Amino acid sequence: SFTRCNAVLSNSSSTEVSELADIDWDNIGFGLKPTDYMYVMKCNIDGEFSKGELQRFGNIEVSPSAGVLNYGQGLFEGLKAYRKEDGNNILLFRPEENANRMRNGAERMCMPAPSIEQFVEAVKETVLANKRWVPPPGKGSLYVRPLLMGTGAVLGLAPAPEYTFIIYVSPVGNYFKEGVAPINLIVENDFHRATPGGTGGVKTIGNYAAVLKAQSIAKAKGYSDVLYLDCVYKRFLEEVSSCNIFIVKDNVIATPEIKGTILPGITRKSIIDVARTQGFQVEERNVTVDELLEADEVFCTGTAVVVSPVGSVTYKGKRVSYGEGTFGTVSKQLYTVLTSLQMGLIEDNMNWTVN
Ligand code: COI
Repeated sequence: SFTRCNAVLSNSSSTEVSELADIDWDNIGFGLKPTDYMYVMKCNIDGEFSKGELQRFGNIEVSPSAGVLNYGQGLFEGLKAYRKEDGNNILLFRPEENANRMRNGAERMCMPAPSIEQFVEAVKETVLANKRWVPPPGKGSLYVRPLLMGTGAVLGLAPAPEYTFIIYVSPVGNYFKEGVAPINLIVENDFHRATPGGTGGVKTIGNYAAVLKAQSIAKAKGYSDVLYLDCVYKRFLEEVSSCNIFIVKDNVIATPEIKGTILPGITRKSIIDVARTQGFQVEERNVTVDELLEADEVFCTGTAVVVSPVGSVTYKGKRVSYGEGTFGTVSKQLYTVLTSLQMGLIEDNMNWTVN
C-alpha cells in the first residue's frame, strides 16, 4: 500500500512571478516566492559549460529519462544576499565557499561543475537581476539556490551525458515556524541520514529526500526537527535534517567533526571561526548523545537557519530543556557577530568575501 508522508506544503508551489507588493516583509518565512529571473547554463558531454544566461523565472523542460529524475544525479547549494543599511548595496556572504562545495560534491556524484569564477559570477548576475526582491535591511535576505543536475537522457545506470546549472532566488525570513524562538528536537534512533562511504558529506538532493520520513513523523508529534545519530554506534551526534549541531559546556563549544557523513556547513565553519576569534575554545570531535543531554546550551547552524537556539531535545522518551525560552548567552553572542558581519554592520577581519 502507498503511505503518505504528512509533508507540510510550502507557501507557494507556483512558478509564477509573485507580486512584490503582496509580500509582508515582517512575516516572510521560508517558502518559495517566485522572482523575476533565473540563471541557466548547460554543460555538454565533454564537460564544457556554455555561456550562461538569465531567463525569466519559470518551469524547465527535461526528458523523463534525465539522469537527475531517474538516478538522483543532482546537487544544490544555498547562500544568502543581504541588503545593506544604506538600502542600496547588496552583500553576498562567502559565495566561493559554496562554489567549492559544489565542486567537491560534483566530483563525488560524477558530474562536471562550474569553476569557482563561473559560479560566483552567475550568483552575482542572478542576485542583481532580482535586486528588487532583496528584503529591506533587518527583514530577511534573498536566498540563492544554485542547482546542478544531470539533464541528459540515460536509461542504463550511468552518469548523464548532459548537465544543467540553474540559480533561482527567493526572499526569505526565518526558517523555523518558531521564528527566532528555540526549537525542539527529537533524537532519531532508527532512521539514519548518512553512512560511512555514502554521500552524507556532499549536498546531493537524495540526502534530503532520505530525511523526509523521519522529519514528517517528528513534525506530526510537534517537534521542530530531527537530530540524527551515527549509524554504527548510534551514540555520536551527526546533524539535524537541514543544519549542523553545536553544544556548549562550561563555555567550551563542541561540534561533530567533518568525516564524510556530515555536511560541511559554511555557517558551521564561519561560526567556528567567529567563536575562536571571540576567544572561545571550539572542539571538532565526536560528540556523544550523553554530552548533548548534559550540555549548558545547544544550537544549530545553517545558511537557512542561521543560528537557531535549541530549547529541548528528546531522546528515547526523555526530554531535556535548555535555557529560558530564549537564545543562550554563547549562541546569542555568536549569532550577533555572524549576522553583523553578513549584513556589513561590523568590519570583517577574517578576510571573508562579504561584498
Ligand atoms: C541551507 O541551509 O541553505 C540548506 O541548504 C538547507 C535546506 C534544507 C534549506
